[in-house]
Amino acid sequence: MPPSESSPADVDLSVQLGRLALPNPILVASGTFGYAREMEQLVDLDRLGGIIPKTITRLPRPGNAPWRTVEASSGLLNSIGLDNDGIDAFLEHHLPYLARLQSPLIVSIAGRSHDEFVAMAAKLAGFSGIDAVELNISCPNVSGGVDFGTDPELCGKLVAGVRGSCDLPILAKLTPNVTSIASIAEAAAAAGADALSLINTVLGMAVDWRQRRPLLGNVLGGLSGPAIKPIALRCVYQVSQAVDIPLVGIGGIATIDDVMEFLVAGASAVQIGTANYYDPAVSMKLLDQLPAAVASLEATRVASVVGSLQRADAPPAAPPASSAT
Ligand code: FUM
Repeated sequence: MPPSESSPADVDLSVQLGRLALPNPILVASGTFGYAREMEQLVDLDRLGGIIPKTITRLPRPGNAPWRTVEASSGLLNSIGLDNDGIDAFLEHHLPYLARLQSPLIVSIAGRSHDEFVAMAAKLAGFSGIDAVELNISCPNVSGGVDFGTDPELCGKLVAGVRGSCDLPILAKLTPNVTSIASIAEAAAAAGADALSLINTVLGMAVDWRQRRPLLGNVLGGLSGPAIKPIALRCVYQVSQAVDIPLVGIGGIATIDDVMEFLVAGASAVQIGTANYYDPAVSMKLLDQLPAAVASLEATRVASVVGSLQRADAPPAAPPASSAT
């Protein structure tokens, strides 16, 4: 092997999201992986770069009326409504299991008000085994919390409030359902977010025209899956041009090419979401494939691939020596 070429075995997969260190950039997204225990027969949970369980709220929520999911072309519409048992049940029943895993645990929280978000984050900071919080300010299926993801001023105040009351690293999960995601990102970054997760689902709808009824009980829902990948890539790219903090890409990621596209476009890590539903072990396959994909760019570290996108008019990179015929 020529000395300039990197070997998959030597690739450093670790990435840093502000104060949060991850062993690798393959995470599983909130709401698509339960509380991880459900997946233990299918996935080596200790290999994951991070686990983000279903968003929790202060009080239990029954969620929205059915139907709550509808398949769409290359995607999935959901209107779950943050169905969960609340923070106390999470701390009592799920945290002890999750805290025993090797993978970093990022707890996703949603509040209906500034004070509720801040109080929840402060409570989590009192427990060991939690590595970071993800502020879900982007769920399209509930009233209240999404205001923090659509108004830069509210977003900045919220991140600053959480930062002031909780010493855990903070990720803010942003919605694409805004005119300028970059301005929301700038507010979150200026207020002290360690990283930004983007994107949450794209607001959509499904109709049964024969019955003349919406299919989702809540009428509108959030679209995820391959259909939204180009939107998510666009958001990662735009936000990477606007802020200096790390980004976590989410949206239709199912193959190693998807992962690499997000890394090159500016994401330091990715979250696998909808693909977990039809291929629960997809994250393991991506982890197996990642070192060779990084090495194929003659890189020895994932971090050095992040944001390496060239301008469209740049000359194409020379092929690696081993692929020359
Ligand atoms: O409706 C839901 O529970 C979805 C949550 C989200 O997209 O964050």
